This record gives sequence, C-alpha cells and structure tokens, in this order.
Amino acid sequence: MKQEIVPIHSLEFLSKEILELTFISEYLASTAKPGQFINIRVGDNFPLLRRPFSIFNVDENRVSIVFNVIGTGTKVLARKQKGETIDVLGPCGNDFLSFVDDSFDTAVFVAGGIGVAPFRFLTKKLYNNKQIVTFLGGRHKEQIIASGLQNIKIATDDGSQGFKGTVLDLIKDDFSKNMYKRPRFFLCGPTRMMKAVSEFATGIGADCCASMECDMACGIGLCQGCNIEMNGGDKKYRLVCKEGTIFETKNLKF
Ligand SMILES: Cc1cc2nc3c(=O)[nH]c(=O)nc-3n(C[C@H](O)[C@H](O)[C@H](O)COP(=O)(O)OP(=O)(O)OC[C@H]3O[C@@H](n4cnc5c(N)ncnc54)[C@H](O)[C@@H]3O)c2cc1C
Ligand code: FES
Repeated sequence: MKQEIVPIHSLEFLSKEILELTFISEYLASTAKPGQFINIRVGDNFPLLRRPFSIFNVDENRVSIVFNVIGTGTKVLARKQKGETIDVLGPCGNDFLSFVDDSFDTAVFVAGGIGVAPFRFLTKKLYNNKQIVTFLGGRHKEQIIASGLQNIKIATDDGSQGFKGTVLDLIKDDFSKNMYKRPRFFLCGPTRMMKAVSEFATGIGADCCASMECDMACGIGLCQGCNIEMNGGDKKYRLVCKEGTIFETKNLKF
C-alpha cells in the first residue's frame, strides 16, 4: 500500500448519475486486485477524511473508479478536471481473487447499485477460467452500469430496464429456469440485499462471499472504527478495512 499524488486522466458520466474518474498510476495498475479499494483525499484541506472507492478498472497505467455524487466529498471529486492531481492511498483491503479456487465452476456476481464497481475488473481476471453470470440491481436504469461485464441480467425497482423487481426476485426467477454448474456467489452492494442473497445462496448449498461497506475513518486499520460482528470463530469482531472488505457470508453476523 502506498500514498501517491496522481494526475487525473479523465472524468466522464457513464449515466446521468454515475461518474467514472480515471487517473494514472503505474504502481496501482500493477499491484491492485479486483475487490480492493483506494482511499482518496478529495480536497487539499476539506473534507479532512479520505473517501473509500472500489477499483473499477485497470487498463495499462490507468486506474478508474465509479461513483455516485452523494455528499461533500463526492461533490468535490465531481468537479475535478483532467490534468489536476488527487491524493490516493492503496490498494487497500483483501480481494475477490482470494476467494477463487477449484471448488466452483460458475461465478455468480450480484451487484446492487454502485456495488457493481469491482465486477468489471473481476470479470477481466476470471473470464478465461470460470463461467460467469452477472446480476445487476438498481433503483432505476441510471443506476445500471453494465460495461465490461458478462452474461448480464438486470433488475430495476421501477422496471425502467430489465426485470421489474429486486435483484433477489430476478435471481430466484432465473435460477428456477437455468442450471448453473457448482455456483459460488460474489456480492457487493447494500447490506440488506447482500444478506437476502446470501440466504438464497446458502439455501441452494452455494458458497458466498460479500464485500462489506461501512463508514471508514482511517481505512487502514488504525482507528478501529470499522468493526463488523462475526458469527463465531476465534474473533468476535473484525476490521472491515483491513481484514475485509470481503468475507465469507457464513462467517458474518449480518
Ligand atoms: C470499501 C468501500 C468501497 C466503496 N466504493 C465505492 C465506489 O466504488 N463508488 C461509490 O460511489 N461509493 C463507494 N463507496 C461509498 C463511498 O465511500 C461514499 O459514497 C463516500 O464516502 C461518500 O462521501 P461523501 O463525502 O460524498 O458523502 P458524505 O458527505 O460523507 O455523506 C453524505 C450522505 O451519504 C451517506 N453515506 C456516506 N457514505 C455512505 C455509504 N457508504 N453508504 C450509504 N450512505 C453513505 C452519509 O451518511 C450522508 O447521509 C465505498 C465505500 C467503502 C467503505
Ligand atoms: S477504518 Fe480505521 S480501522 Fe478500519
């Protein structure tokens, strides 16, 4: 993990609500793995705390994130221009590849909203080795980012794109019609969605891992502010930023 000041290569809208910010970093491009995140200091003095973002894509020496503008930090980020610099710290956390082995054949990706962020990079790494099916859920079509994904199935709450309903409704419907050989689930999105999908995965005997989100102050294991409760085992709590963000869901007390 390293702190760097890096130049912004581009900032563009992928939909009306979601921006992709790309910057140049040889170091991150060569070390980052899918599922890891970076901590960005978005302004020089304000806001003080870094903001965490999943790594969306790596292409040669370019690294990108995607984000929703929701508050102070992301508003500052959305005003950046090509050629300006940002202060990034990473790569942070564990990665989805540590959960990839010979125990499964089908990687089932499930994303809620901006939780799609790690799956493009993961698809790049897995598409030669595993069958992939990707379920994307969002409130409406402006929350759906499907570029670089494989075998995509979409659900929106308002029906503006794909299946009308939740991503879990779509998964249940799809699994009643299709057979997937030895599936393993990979989840990223709102905790409530991940809990429900994890219960479904357990019900069909599939392993399931999830990238957990929480408010992070330091993002590197120092402040102890990102504890998550475990379901038994040697430790009652673990740090999301350092020991996660990705956990086997059977080990989590949701
Ligand atoms: C490991 C990790 C990876 C992440 N990856 C991405 C990503 O790839 N793209 C992306 O858009 N976001 C991602 N997030 C969330 C992102 O960090 C927050 O959206 C961002 O910090 C908000 O900063 P802000 O200053 O704009 O909002 P703030 O001003 O801090 O907050 C504005 C409002 O949003 C709420 N809020 C803040 N953070 C979250 C959150 N995580 N979930 C729900 N509500 C929140 C606050 O409670 C407040 O009401 C990730 C978070 C984590 C922990
Ligand atoms: S955010 Fe500080 S220890 Fe995890």
